[in-house]
Parts: sequence; C-alpha cells; structure tokens
Amino acid sequence: MAEGRVVRSVVTPADRTLSGRQLAALLTPPVEGRFGYRELARAVRQTLLDGRVALRMRLPAERELAVALGVSRTTVTAAYDLLRESGYAHSRQGAGTWTELPEGQAPIGPAALRDDSGTLIDLALAAPEAPPGLLTDALGEAAAELPRFASSQGYHPYGIPELRAAIADRYTAKGLPTRPEQILVTTGAQQALALSLALLGGPGDRVLAENPSYPNALDAMRGRRMRITPVPVTEAGWDSGLIDAALRQTAPRLAYLVPDFHNPMGRLMPPDQRREVARAARATGTWLVVDETLTDIGLDVPPPDPFAASAGPGTGEQLISIGSLSKSCWGGLRVGWARASARVVTELARLRITHDLAGSVLDQLVAVALMRRLDTLLPPRAEELRRRREALVTALARHVPEWHWTLPPGGLCLWLDLGRPIAAELAARALRHGVRVEGGSRFGVDPGTHEHRLRIPYALPVEVYEPAAERLAAALAGAPAPFAEPDLPDWVA
Ligand SMILES: Cc1ncc(COP(=O)(O)O)c(C=O)c1O
Repeated sequence: MAEGRVVRSVVTPADRTLSGRQLAALLTPPVEGRFGYRELARAVRQTLLDGRVALRMRLPAERELAVALGVSRTTVTAAYDLLRESGYAHSRQGAGTWTELPEGQAPIGPAALRDDSGTLIDLALAAPEAPPGLLTDALGEAAAELPRFASSQGYHPYGIPELRAAIADRYTAKGLPTRPEQILVTTGAQQALALSLALLGGPGDRVLAENPSYPNALDAMRGRRMRITPVPVTEAGWDSGLIDAALRQTAPRLAYLVPDFHNPMGRLMPPDQRREVARAARATGTWLVVDETLTDIGLDVPPPDPFAASAGPGTGEQLISIGSLSKSCWGGLRVGWARASARVVTELARLRITHDLAGSVLDQLVAVALMRRLDTLLPPRAEELRRRREALVTALARHVPEWHWTLPPGGLCLWLDLGRPIAAELAARALRHGVRVEGGSRFGVDPGTHEHRLRIPYALPVEVYEPAAERLAAALAGAPAPFAEPDLPDWVA
C-alpha cells in the first residue's frame, strides 16, 4: 500500500466510551490557550492520528466535553461537525458520536502533516473543504423537503424545478434576466462542459482555448479529438487582438473561456474585453462556452457580472454559461449547471439523459438550501481564502525566495514562475518529499510547454503551507528524498 494511505474502519457504533475529562486530558492545548472549534477538531484529530485515541471510541457528550474544557457547547458542536465532515467522526441517532478515519485516501489538510513520517500534502487540487456546519444545516432542510419528492418518480433530467428557479433567480439578480427553462442542472461544472462539447463539436472540429487552461477541459476536448487553437493568457491577462486574429484565422466551432478568476492564472477579464471577445465570436459564428465556476471566489475585487450580461445583443443564442457550487460551497456535492437559451438547454438535456438520466434529488435539495445561504457564506469564505493565500506566499517567500508570482485577485491558485524549466522533475521529486503539486505543462495546450511554471492552490488550511514550502525547498535543493513515490492518480481540479 502507498505511503500515507489510510483504510476505513468498519462503520459500526463504538464499543467504548471516553469521558469528557479523559479526552480533555489527552488534547494538546492550543497556543492561544483556549480552544476554538477548529483548534478543538484539529486536536481531536491529532489524538486519533497518533494513536492516543483508538478508532471506534465513543466521544463524550457535547455538554460534558464543553464543561471539561471550559468552552461553550456550540464550540464542541461545531468541532464535532467538522470532524464528521472531514471523516474523522461518525454519528448515529441514539448511538452517539464515535471516532473514524476518512475513507480511502490520505487525509487532506493539517491532519496530513502529523509528523515527518510520510503523510502527503496534496497541493494538486484547487478545492476547499465545505464551510463548517454548512452541509449539516442544509441537509436538515433538504431532508424535510424530501418526502414531497419521494412520492413521485424522482427523475428530473433538467434538474428539480426549485433548483433551476434558484439558479435562474441568482443570474437575474446579477443583472442577467434568466428563466428556469434556461437552466440545466448538471453533475458539477465538468458535466456541463462535457455536454457542451458533445453538443457543439466532434472529431476534427476546431476549438479555441486559453493557454494555459483548466486541464480537465483540455482533456475533454482531446478526448473528443477536437483540434485546439490556443490563445495565451498571461499575468497581464488576455489579448483581445490575438483572440480576434485566432477566431478569424481558424473560425472555430466554439471557444472555451474561463474569464472569472481563471484556472490556473487567477486573472479576471475586464468588461470591455468581454464585449470585444463576444463581438469577435459573433463575427465568425463561433459558440462561446464560458466557464464561471470560480465567479464567487473574488478575493480582492467583487464578483464580476455574468459574462452573458456584458456580451452584447445577439450573442445569447450562441453562448453557454457554466456554473457550479463546487468552489463556493463544496466540490463533493457535485452540483453545477449550464445556462443557455431554452432550446439549447433542451438539446443538452437530451444528451445528459444518455449519460446519467438525471442528478440526485437529495443533492439538489441540499443545493437549494445552500443557494439560500450563498450571500451569507461567501464573505467569510473569501476572508479565509485570503488568509490561506497569505500563508502560502509568506511560506514560499521564506523557503523559495527565487520563485516569483503575481498575486491573483481571486480564484484558488498561485501560478508560480520557477525561473527554469524544471517543473516536471520538481513535481516528481516533491512527491517523494511528501507534497503533490502539478507542473505547468499539465495546464498547457501543447505537451512540454509551461515547464517553468508550477500551480499551487491555497485551498487547504493555513498550517499546511509552511511545511509544504519547506518540503518543496528540499525537493528543489535535491535533498535526499525521504519517501518512496506514492501510488496516486494524476488528477487535478
Ligand atoms: C475552471 C473550472 N471548471 C470546472 C471545474 C470543475 O468543477 P465541478 O467540480 O463543478 O465539476 C473546475 C474545478 O476545479 C474548474 O477549475
């Protein structure tokens, strides 16, 4: 078995119980002296990972632990929620809460940093965890709604009406009038993207894509044997003149753009460029597939208007906007959507039926509950991501001062300039030092390009970046690698 993997223990209720006093005595107190819920969850997780508390131990009742630690019961409740959400605890009505390990893979986040014994820090996924407590609340609301749906057949290829309406209303509120018929709910933005490609292009068709771009989009194009015309995105952003020229010269069937906090560049396309690109696409009859998955992750600037709102008259029929709750709420929900004309939505739904018939009603009910909370949860999420971004750049500046970057105004990633074309080798070495990162070429349209770049997301908690940067510096210096290369799938988000 690969280093750092953990195996799920059987999910059965605990056969032993820990008292509040016993657990309190085992917890390492936080530096600040008093436990907040995050510190408490982290301390409990730590006791599990280093064997001080066994698996399948029943944790003390919330009130009892609160008294033993001198904290509020809400702190303990939130800590237990966090433990459950991250897979370190399990609860069942009447049986209490007991300790567990997450399923299948190395724990992500600070738990992965227990010591130097080989647990992996995964910096290849630009995907934050769900805000604490959020899913539990939303699930409660969804459960109350479920019986209404359970008495029908449950197949909704377009998405449940409530969610289509909630998504449409959000576009309307952002200045883009939208009817529910214009929304197709999908299994993440990725399905919306795959369906759009399947609808619009086939083998040999030209598609314009930014370079670098989101790898799973490029792979989906390659998988359909489409011919990709790259246009550069740099630290300075997009060059509308180059996009215009590429459109004129190749007249692609479609163009795939990530104008909102681009993955991996983090840039935001300004409104006048949006108009220029839309105008150029109209002139060549090119469809626009605009991926707005990251639109809610504005860190230094407010979230932009929807692309379709600034695209200008006449673009609407040939524009598919893609969105998702993955970055604003949680990727594990797998809820995304496509917004297009009602006619195009019908075509996309026809295709989707051949993929998976329809999405899960329960997940969509959770999504409805989350959409109601979106405006409240986004500001603290942005605040937390700013802290994580700061922690990452501080750690990098300390350990690898020769690397450079431009701070992105939003999104989830730093796009680093290594100064030398060493990314693939460095990423391979970094893995043996216990850090998974993606070299720049994974994001390039052409193999072997962007070799002087590394993408590092700041989606993990702040504590991760200091040891991660230290390990990267050791890998860069060619220090002896302490670990065998773990056997991991090469995937990004
Ligand atoms: C630009 C972009 N599009 C789509 C996705 C996939 O999103 P989802 O999880 O909603 O499928 C991602 C995930 O990282 C992304 O960065």
